[in-house]
Amino acid sequence: MTDIRNFVITAHIDHGKSTLADRMLEITKTVDPRKFHAQYLDTMGLEQERGITIKMQPVTMQYQGTMLNLIDTPGHVDFSYEVSRALAAVEGAVLLVDAAQGVQAQTIANMEQAILQGLTIIPVINKIDLPAAKPEAVKAEIAALLDTPAEEVLAISAKDGTGVEELLQRVITQVGAPEGREEKKFRALIFDSHYDDFRGVIAHVRVVDGAVKSREKIRFAATDVQTEILEIGIFSPELVAKDVLSAGAIGYIATGLKDPRAVRIGDTLTLAKERGAVPLVGYAEPQPVVFAALFPEDADDYDPLKEALERLMLNDAALTIAPEESHALGRGFRLGFLGTLHLEIVVERLRREANLSIIVTHPSVALRAITERGEQIDVLTPRDFPTAAQSIMEPWVKIELLVPPEYLSPVVQVIAGTRGTVEKTESVTESRLKITATAPLLDVIEGFADRLKSATSGYASFSWVTYEQRPGDLVKLRVLVAHEEVEALNKIVPRVRADREGRRIAKKLKEVLPAQLFAVAIQVAIGTRVIARETIRAMRKDVTAGLYGGDFTRKKKLLVKQRKGKKRMEKSGRVQIPSEVFVKLLKK
Ligand code: GTP
Repeated sequence: MTDIRNFVITAHIDHGKSTLADRMLEITKTVDPRKFHAQYLDTMGLEQERGITIKMQPVTMQYQGTMLNLIDTPGHVDFSYEVSRALAAVEGAVLLVDAAQGVQAQTIANMEQAILQGLTIIPVINKIDLPAAKPEAVKAEIAALLDTPAEEVLAISAKDGTGVEELLQRVITQVGAPEGREEKKFRALIFDSHYDDFRGVIAHVRVVDGAVKSREKIRFAATDVQTEILEIGIFSPELVAKDVLSAGAIGYIATGLKDPRAVRIGDTLTLAKERGAVPLVGYAEPQPVVFAALFPEDADDYDPLKEALERLMLNDAALTIAPEESHALGRGFRLGFLGTLHLEIVVERLRREANLSIIVTHPSVALRAITERGEQIDVLTPRDFPTAAQSIMEPWVKIELLVPPEYLSPVVQVIAGTRGTVEKTESVTESRLKITATAPLLDVIEGFADRLKSATSGYASFSWVTYEQRPGDLVKLRVLVAHEEVEALNKIVPRVRADREGRRIAKKLKEVLPAQLFAVAIQVAIGTRVIARETIRAMRKDVTAGLYGGDFTRKKKLLVKQRKGKKRMEKSGRVQIPSEVFVKLLKK
C-alpha cells in the first residue's frame, strides 16, 4: 500500500486550482489529449460557464509507479463544506496561493482546516509567469503563516506548467501513504455521491481498511440498508470499473439503490457479512444560515421538484430541506443554504438538471421571534414573521477580512454601511492587515461581498462564522401587485433600511414586470402602511388598426369601449408573475 498518495488542492477562489489539476492530468497522461479541454475537472456545465468550481471532483492518476488520488475542491466560502469533506478523505494538501494576490481569507481558513485534520501541507505559489507576481513577498507571507522557511515554498505556473512536475514529486515524497490495513474488516467513508439513472445512487468513497469487490453485499452503518454492489471503480475522472478497491483507495461504488435517502454523506460502508466493523467518524452536520422557499411555477410539478431535490441532495450534502405551504403559491419547500451563492447555484441546477420553472422567495436568515406570551418561534421565511412579537432575535457573525494596508479605509466604510462595527485591526504580515468585525448576518448576505469587492478592487477577502443572537429591529415588507399581496416577494429588512429597500423593490418590479392591458399598481407596505408605490402603465393595443379611412366616430367608439374594458380589468385584474421576474428581482 506504500504506492498510494491521496491529496487535495485547496486555495482561495481563482488562485488556480483547476488549472493546476489540468496540468497534472496532462503530465500523468490521465486524459486522452484529443478529449482534453481546460478546467477538465469542472464537469458541470454551470462550472464551465461561470469558471468556478462548485463540486469537489476526485481523479486517480498514475505517476512514476505511484497511484495519485487528487480531489479538486471549490474555493468559495459557500462551498467550504465540500472542502471539509474532501480533507477528511486524504492525507495531504497542496495549499495554492496566487503570487500576485497573495494570501487571502480563504487561504487561511483552508489552511486551518487542513492543520486540524492533521494533513501534510505543501505550500505553493502559483502564476509566477504573471508580470504582477511578487514571488518573494508572497513566499514570505505563506512561510510566516505556516512557520516554515520561505525556501520550502514551491513556485509554479499552472498555466505554462513550470514547477508542476516537481510538485508531483513533492506529493510523493512528503505526503504520507494511507495508514489503513488491508487485512482488517472493510470500512469506507462516503464523502460524496451522485445519482445515475441506470445504476442508482453512486457513493464516492475512501476505503479506510480492508477491501471490497464487485457483487459483494454491503451495509450502510447509519441507515442499516443492505445491497449488492453493481460495480466498483475509480475516477479517471470518468467512472472506470475495477475488480477491487482496497485500503487507501479513493473510488466509487454503484449501489443500484433507487432511493436517495438510503445513502448519507459521512456514513460508513461495511460488508454485510462482516458484523462489528466500527463506523468511522462522520462529518459535522452543516448548519444552514440562509433560507428561502421554493415553489414549482406549475403546481403539477410538485412531485418532479421533490424528486429532483432528493437527487440533488445526494450531490449537495450541505442543502437542507423541509416542506412549505403557501396560500398563494401552493406546496413547495423551504431550503437551507450555506450562503447566497449556494442558493443561486441550487436554483440554477434545478432549472437545468430537472428542467423546472421555479419561484424562489427572497432569502432570509434564521430569526427567532419571542411572542408576547414568551413563546419562541423560528422565523425562517417572511411568512413566519409574526405580526405582534415582543422581540426578534437575529444571528450576528464575526467577520475576518484580509486586506493590503492601503485599503483599510474603504473596508471600514463598507462595514460602516452595515449595522456592524469594526472590532480590531492587526497586521498578519507586512503586506496584510486583518480586520475583525461583527455584523448582522442579514447585512452580510445582502450584497456585502459585492460592495467590498468594488471598494477594494477585489483586494479584500473575508470569511465569517456565526456566533451569537442579538435583538434586531426588523420589519416585514409586504409587496402588493394590483392590490394583491405577492407572498413570494415579501422580505424581512432592518427598519432603518425599510424605506430605501421598499422603494428599490417597487422600482425594480416596475422594470421587470411585463406590462398588462390595464394599469398595475405596485405597492410596498409595512403592515397596512404603504411606504413605496409605482404604477406600470397599461400596454397599448391599437384597437383601431382594423379601420381604414377617416371615420372618426367609429374610431372614437372603439377607443371608449377599450377604455371601459381596461377599467374593468384593472378592478378584477390578477397579474400572473412569470418566474423570470422572481429571478431578476433577487439579483440586485
Ligand atoms: P475556483 O475553482 O473558482 O475556486 O478557481 P480555481 O482556483 O480553480 O482557479 P482557476 O484554475 O479557474 O484559475 C483562475 C484563473 O487564473 C483562470 O483565468 C486561469 O486561467 C488563471 N490561472 C491559473 N493559473 C495560472 C498561472 O499559472 N498563470 C496565469 N497567468 N494565470 C493562471
